[in-house]
Amino acid sequence: MTALVDRFNRPHHDLRISLTDRCSLRCTYCMPADGVPWLARSTMLSTDEIIRVARVGVENGITEIRLTGGEPLLRVDVVDIVRRLTALPNAPEVSITTNALRLPALAAPLKDAGLSRVNISLDTLDRARFMELTRRDRLVETLAGIAAADAAGLRPVKINAVAMRGVNDDEVVALTRFAVDRGYQMRFIEQMPLDGGHTWDRVQMVTQAEILERLAGEFTLTEVEGRGAAPAELWYVDGGPQTVGVIASVTAPFCGACDRLRLTADGQLRACLFSEAEVDTRQILREGGTDADLVDAYLRCLAGKKAGHGIGEPGFHQPDRPMSAIGG
Ligand code: GTP
Ligand code: 5AD
Ligand code: SF4
Repeated sequence: MTALVDRFNRPHHDLRISLTDRCSLRCTYCMPADGVPWLARSTMLSTDEIIRVARVGVENGITEIRLTGGEPLLRVDVVDIVRRLTALPNAPEVSITTNALRLPALAAPLKDAGLSRVNISLDTLDRARFMELTRRDRLVETLAGIAAADAAGLRPVKINAVAMRGVNDDEVVALTRFAVDRGYQMRFIEQMPLDGGHTWDRVQMVTQAEILERLAGEFTLTEVEGRGAAPAELWYVDGGPQTVGVIASVTAPFCGACDRLRLTADGQLRACLFSEAEVDTRQILREGGTDADLVDAYLRCLAGKKAGHGIGEPGFHQPDRPMSAIGG
């Protein structure tokens, strides 16, 4: 076994695999409204190819796999992928980050295939705002998908909301109440410069401090100790057991403890959401490469990993691909 360690001695245990860049929504912070340059189908990894890259990762220390997108549940073989990942020797924990729209149909089969849990994007409880934000009128279906995940036992259900000024920053308390009442974990996310339109603005960004101020106006918050490598910092709400979290990627980066690697739907390994370099596994897979070549690809990817994302620092460059193509 070759440990997946980078130049800063960070061991890597978490592989985030994007199953597709397609999505059933068009969230403004993630994708342009139209004219998205979709990946050509022929460049997207097959089920077998995904399993092979994942297996080599698991053989070298990956213990957690997160399926992302685009919208991962749009991939027709998603249940099969989960079943095959959880059947690997030294089976990793497999979870999904989704918009929930297909969960009414898929929550039970996914649970049955070995999926552990889901994180679901829900930025607002208001129908008109949901439409504005996702450019689709599908709030009711999203809520049904969240309930289906809970009913299928895909717990803990975590709800992600990207905090946006003048859009949903006044819903911090209502969203938290919604989650606490149902036993879900609400997490608010500082928006990162990953939008398709390149309109991100540090000054406009809603910060962790502002989110906490709003929460503290309504709830008693007590910090949860022992965060590990998780991006979310958590607080007990009114004494617990429910918690609320903030993912402060910009004002309080957690890169020092990063244990993540990413695989895009077209087979590129990325060391960071904000990497400029990618390492191509597709060519290795399609030109008769060995497992050792894939291990080498992981190691080359790690060798180029930077200490941090560098947002706001001189020379920072927003990735050319939008979030939907990198995988959240
Ligand atoms: P849990 O294991 O449930 O804590 O998942 P998670 O919060 O790591 O993943 P999720 O897919 O729910 O992502 C929530 C937010 O965290 C999204 O905005 C992601 O883009 C962001 N995120 C996930 N991993 C990283 C990372 O390595 N770096 C940064 N900066 N953000 C990340
Ligand atoms: N900044 C922060 N988080 C984002 N997400 C999507 N785009 C961004 C962004 N620009 C989040 C979504 C989803 C998760 C995968 O990534 O809320 O839950
Ligand atoms: Fe789709 Fe998720 Fe991007 Fe929204 S954030 S457009 S749900 S991939």
